[in-house]
Amino acid sequence: MKTRIMVVEDDHDTLELMIEVFEGKGYNVDKAANGIEALQKIKIHEPDIILSDIQMPGMDGMELLKNISKDCPHIPVIMVTAYGTIDIAVDAMKMGAKDFITKPLRFDELHTKVERISQLSSLIKENEFLLNKLQQKYDFTNIIGKTDKIKQLFQLVQDVASTNTTVLIRGESGTGKELIANAIHYNSGRMKRPFVKINCGVLAESLLESELFGHVRGAFTGAIKDKVGRFELAHGGTLFLDEIGDISLNMQLKLLRVLQEGEFERVGGTETIKVDVRILAATNKNLEEAMEQGTFRNDLYYRLNVIPITVPPLRDRSDDIQYLVHHFIEKFNKIYGKNIRDIDAKAMSILKNYEYPGNIRELENLVERLVVLNKNTTGVITAADLPPILPSVDYDGADDMNSGLVKAVEDYEKKLIVKALAENNNNKVQTAKMLQVNRSTFMSRLKKYNIN
Ligand SMILES: Nc1ncnc2c1ncn2[C@@H]1O[C@H](COP(=O)(O)OP(=O)(O)O)[C@@H](O)[C@H]1O
Ligand SMILES: [Mg+2]
Repeated sequence: MKTRIMVVEDDHDTLELMIEVFEGKGYNVDKAANGIEALQKIKIHEPDIILSDIQMPGMDGMELLKNISKDCPHIPVIMVTAYGTIDIAVDAMKMGAKDFITKPLRFDELHTKVERISQLSSLIKENEFLLNKLQQKYDFTNIIGKTDKIKQLFQLVQDVASTNTTVLIRGESGTGKELIANAIHYNSGRMKRPFVKINCGVLAESLLESELFGHVRGAFTGAIKDKVGRFELAHGGTLFLDEIGDISLNMQLKLLRVLQEGEFERVGGTETIKVDVRILAATNKNLEEAMEQGTFRNDLYYRLNVIPITVPPLRDRSDDIQYLVHHFIEKFNKIYGKNIRDIDAKAMSILKNYEYPGNIRELENLVERLVVLNKNTTGVITAADLPPILPSVDYDGADDMNSGLVKAVEDYEKKLIVKALAENNNNKVQTAKMLQVNRSTFMSRLKKYNIN
């Protein structure tokens, strides 16, 4: 898209010349002969950049600048001043002008300035666009859950988002802790500032320390230059400490100090650095147990656990599975350009009855696979498409209803035994153990169902 530039200039010849020059360079140019006309046109045309003369009859350039700073401060203004009026130009910069240029005009200089500012403002626009996308991604409409449990949780997340409080997010792996952390940040007053994440579980202690606090050059072998830590990077924004239950006692102590005092030194440094950072932390560990065992500090626990949010495992909210499945089908349809329309009832009932030790992450990966690999011309996922690790029996019993209870239960029992045998490489002792029946009961079932 062409950059739209507005030239405000009372001298007709200069105005026409500027229009000619900028149109020649591929800009979309709009003109105004004074401040009042400019203000009216800005509202309609929304220029990307304004070039304004200072001395003009009616509303002059300074007055116009004042109005723009008030009404549309996002539009950059370059002031054009007569030779010898540098003081006024400096005043204009103080009032919010992005730059100035003196007459007689040198068009290459003017063009360079306009280019630079237009690049800058398109960067800002792009940034806003990306931020917008992030906000949409972490908008609550994209966090799926209709069960009461999860709705209460969303309400809590929404309530704490706008505060500056430390939040400790707990729950098994894959339940959505990181998603919640993102949602808190992108729905908070800090949304335009950085969201910085660190996974404390995967870094060795010394690395974690320099990642968090930064280091100065020469602090240790390999520290060839100064490094800014995540606390500094997150200044004004949010720092998400993931897997907080995995850090050493030594690091816990160092963290405690920053959380209490908001200050620290870089590794090897002497300067005390102050930061304004909101802390979110997450863990899948049982911190209370860790405290009892002496591996997690009580004081740090209380610092972090100001607002605890516990995300339930997927198996405890299996009514959400159907919504998640549809959500992920849509998501991966888009990503892979597929057109899966639906999933049939039997397949859905199998998905709903699985336990998901890996929680939503596991379900998401599963649906991704189903979407990518699906070759059904109908565009419908069926039970036959599901991977073998899922219990292939229809727990809903919907299909078996007409065969009567006894037969349905027997069919079910048979399928279960066959599956268990397969999982235990046909070892009967192990299979009986797995199914928690004694050997003679198990052998009689094998005979009854004619299983070898
Ligand atoms: N309620 C939800 N709705 C939609 N997607 C979810 C939901 N909860 C989790 N996810 C997705 O599941 C995956 C795992 O979530 P994540 O936040 O990384 O879990 P955790 O940090 O608890 O291990 C991510 O891709 C995330 O987007
Ligand atoms: Mg995680």
